[in-house]
Amino acid sequence: MQNFVFHIPTKILFGRNTVPAIGPETAACGGRCLLVYGRGSSSRSGLLDRVRASLAGAGVEIVEHGGVRSNPVLSHVRQGIGLARQHGVDVIVAVGGGSVIDEAKAISAGCVVEHDVWKFFTGRKSIKKTLPLTTVLTLAAAGSEMNSGMVITNEETREKFGTGNQLLYPRTSILDPEVTFTVPPDYTAYGAVDAVAHVLEFYMTTQDPDTPVQDRIMEGLIENVMEACDRCLADPCDYGGRASLMWSATLALNGLTAAGLGRVGFPMHMIEHSLSALYDVPHGAGLSAVIPGWLTWHGRRAPARIAGLCRRLFPFPDMERCSDRELAARTVTILRNWFGRINSPASLQELGIPATDIPEIARNAMGLAKIWRLNEYTPEIIEEILCLCR
Ligand code: NZQ
Ligand code: ZN
Repeated sequence: MQNFVFHIPTKILFGRNTVPAIGPETAACGGRCLLVYGRGSSSRSGLLDRVRASLAGAGVEIVEHGGVRSNPVLSHVRQGIGLARQHGVDVIVAVGGGSVIDEAKAISAGCVVEHDVWKFFTGRKSIKKTLPLTTVLTLAAAGSEMNSGMVITNEETREKFGTGNQLLYPRTSILDPEVTFTVPPDYTAYGAVDAVAHVLEFYMTTQDPDTPVQDRIMEGLIENVMEACDRCLADPCDYGGRASLMWSATLALNGLTAAGLGRVGFPMHMIEHSLSALYDVPHGAGLSAVIPGWLTWHGRRAPARIAGLCRRLFPFPDMERCSDRELAARTVTILRNWFGRINSPASLQELGIPATDIPEIARNAMGLAKIWRLNEYTPEIIEEILCLCR
C-alpha cells in the first residue's frame, strides 16, 4: 500500500426528502446563485421547481443557466461564465448529472479569472480560486458530485479534456435516489458502465501488487453496480436498487478506491473521450465499446490482475485449471455479455463508428494521452487497441 492523502471536503446528504436542503446548504455559501441545469428532465419531473422554491425560501436569488447538453461544451460554459460575471453571483448550484455538474465546476473556476477557462484543461493555467458549488445529483454515473474532476469538450478543436483540482469539490451534494427514478434504461445502463469503468481503470493500472483493502472495496463496487443496474432496469422505481447504484457510482470515483494504489492511469477514458468528442456518443456507451478491446489488449500483456478479478467476482467450477490468460479472456466475455444484456454497445461497430476512422480517433486521443502523461500510449498502440474494439 502506497502513501496517500485522503481528503474529501464534500458534505453528502443522502436519501429520501433531502432535496429541500439545497436552499439552506446554498445560502450558507452565498446569496445569489447561478442555477445550472440540463435540457428538460429536471423541469419535466418538477425537481427544478422544488429546487427553485427551496433556494427562494432560503433567501437565495437565482440567475438561470439551463440547456447544458450531455458531453458539455466549452461555448456553453463560456456563456455561463458571462452570466455569472454579469450578475455577480457568489455561488453555483448544479441540478443534473455529470455533464451539468462538470459545466458548473468549469464556470465556478472560469468566472474568477481573466483568461479563458479552456487553459485549465490544456494545463496552461492552474486553478487557484473557485466559487462555492452545491449540487443535486439526478443520475448515478460520473461521480462528479463528490470529486475534484471535470470534463469539457472544446467543439472548435474537437477535444474532450478532463482536469482536476482540490478546489472543484462541491461543498454539498444532495443524493436522493428517488430523483433518479425517471432516468431512462439507456442512461441507467451507461451510468453503470461508467461506474464499473472508473473502478477498472484503477484496479488494472495500479503497479502495487499488495493492495487487499482497495481490491476488496473495488470488487465489491463492481458487484454492487452490476447487481443494482439489473434491479433498476427491472424496476426503475426500485428505491434500494437506485440507492445502491447511486452510492456505488459516487464511491467509484471519489478517491476512496485510489487511496493507497500509488500511480494509476485512465487509459480507457483517454480513448473514450475521443469517441465522445468526435461522435458525441454518451460517455458510458463509449466506454462499453472500449472496455472489451482495452482489457483484451491489457490481458495479453499482464493477465494476472484480470484473472484475479475473475476468481473473485466470476468463479465457475474447475476454474483452477485455467491459466491467467484464459481467465482474463473469460472476464472480457462476461463483461461483454453484461453490456449486451443491458443494451450498452460493446464495439465501435455497434456505435456506428467505421473501422476506417480508427487512425483519426487515435490521433485525437493522443492530445489527452499527453496531458494525462499516459506516455506508453503511442498512436500505434491506441490504434491496436481500437482494432480490438471493432
Ligand atoms: O439534459 P437532461 O434533459 O437533464 O437529460 C439528461 C441527459 O440527456 C438525462 N438525465 C439526467 N438526469 C436525469 C435524466 N433523465 C431523466 N431523469 C433524470 N433524473 O441523462 C442524460 C445524460 O446526462 P449526463 O449528465 O450527460 O450523464 P452523466 O451523468 O453520465 O455525465 C456524463 C458526463 O460526465 C463526464 C463525462 O465525460 C460526460 O461528459 N465525466 C465526468 C467525470 C468527473 N467529473 O469526474 C468522470 C467521468 O469519467 C466522466 O468523464
Ligand atoms: Zn467516466
